[in-house]
Amino acid sequence: MWSKNALTERLNLEWPIFQAPMGGLVTPALAAAVSNAGGLGGLGLWGFSAEAAERRILGFRQQSGGSLNINYPLWDSPGDLTGVGIEMRARVQKLYDSKDLGSIPTPEPSSCGVSPDHLAVLQDTKPEVVSFHFGLPGPDTMSALKEAGIFLICSATTVAEARSLESRGVDAIIAQGSEAGGHRGTFTDVDISMQPGLFALLPQVVDAVNVPVIAAGGVGDGRSVAAAFMLGASAVQLGTAFLRCEESAIPDVYRDSFDSFTDANTIVTDAVTGRPARFLKNRLVDELSAPGAEPLPFPAQLSLSNPLTGTNDPGVAVLLAGQAVALTRATTAADLMQSLAAESSQQLKAFV
Ligand SMILES: Cc1cc2nc3c(=O)[nH]c(=O)nc-3n(C[C@H](O)[C@H](O)[C@H](O)COP(=O)(O)O)c2cc1C
Repeated sequence: MWSKNALTERLNLEWPIFQAPMGGLVTPALAAAVSNAGGLGGLGLWGFSAEAAERRILGFRQQSGGSLNINYPLWDSPGDLTGVGIEMRARVQKLYDSKDLGSIPTPEPSSCGVSPDHLAVLQDTKPEVVSFHFGLPGPDTMSALKEAGIFLICSATTVAEARSLESRGVDAIIAQGSEAGGHRGTFTDVDISMQPGLFALLPQVVDAVNVPVIAAGGVGDGRSVAAAFMLGASAVQLGTAFLRCEESAIPDVYRDSFDSFTDANTIVTDAVTGRPARFLKNRLVDELSAPGAEPLPFPAQLSLSNPLTGTNDPGVAVLLAGQAVALTRATTAADLMQSLAAESSQQLKAFV
């Protein structure tokens, strides 16, 4: 059976389908529905206190006995932001003025890692998987999580990044093609225009490492799941498709925008959040990415852009999505899981 392999056995999955952890946009109900349908539900914990993180994990556990993936994007503090990004602040202020939003907030520096109190929650609650974006934490945190029996994965956007992750002890690697929605997982600052698409990246990563590879980026239906398996994937990870599910926490302006997305109206830019990510190309993107203003560091830039989403104007809202967004369906997570499993099985049967 195509859907069973060492990775699915290790993680106790019926289907090799991961729902991407997408920060606070994923609810415990969404992750639980995916895991209950035999896939791997994921919850992002960045920006959550240890107590709130534990509540999210327990919220999942109350709704599902399946496996859980907990996720941390990692970044260091950029230091004092006084006087940084003056031109960009003026640009965002102009957008605020056009929407009567008052003054932009004062951007604050921040960092994200697995803090000692988060680590204690993870050691206590033992999610089956902990995943990272933008690189890995230090060896002590890696060892502590492994000693707790937790399976560790991280995104790579190039073969060199995949090799580096393997040498630092990850148990599996997410090959993130440039089609992907959300932030590029690069931790070596590869130029955006040089990052490979999934069709080129995936088989090269599979050849380069000895750990299982999970395909991410532009996987929108059973055909692309089947294609990823043909290219050597042990699982797929979908973000944009699950974002559209009824159980996600996206605001109405985001949900209502899905019908306007096409294969050719998303773009990767660092101007909206401070790190490269793929968005709907709207007025917000156009105005912030025009030459002449550098974004503030991530996520300080996002703290300026995000309040514009609250205006309910899709022209200035922060709308992350991948290139296969037009393949997504407005449905429930259970229904999406069932369709993906049935469609990919049907596709792969045709090749036996
Ligand atoms: C709105 C959004 C937010 C995301 N946030 C995260 C995140 O916090 N951590 C992470 O590891 N990946 C995140 N991703 C990236 C996904 O893990 C995955 O690489 C991507 O969604 C795959 O491409 P697709 O959107 O075309 O399915 C995010 C993706 C989206 C669309």
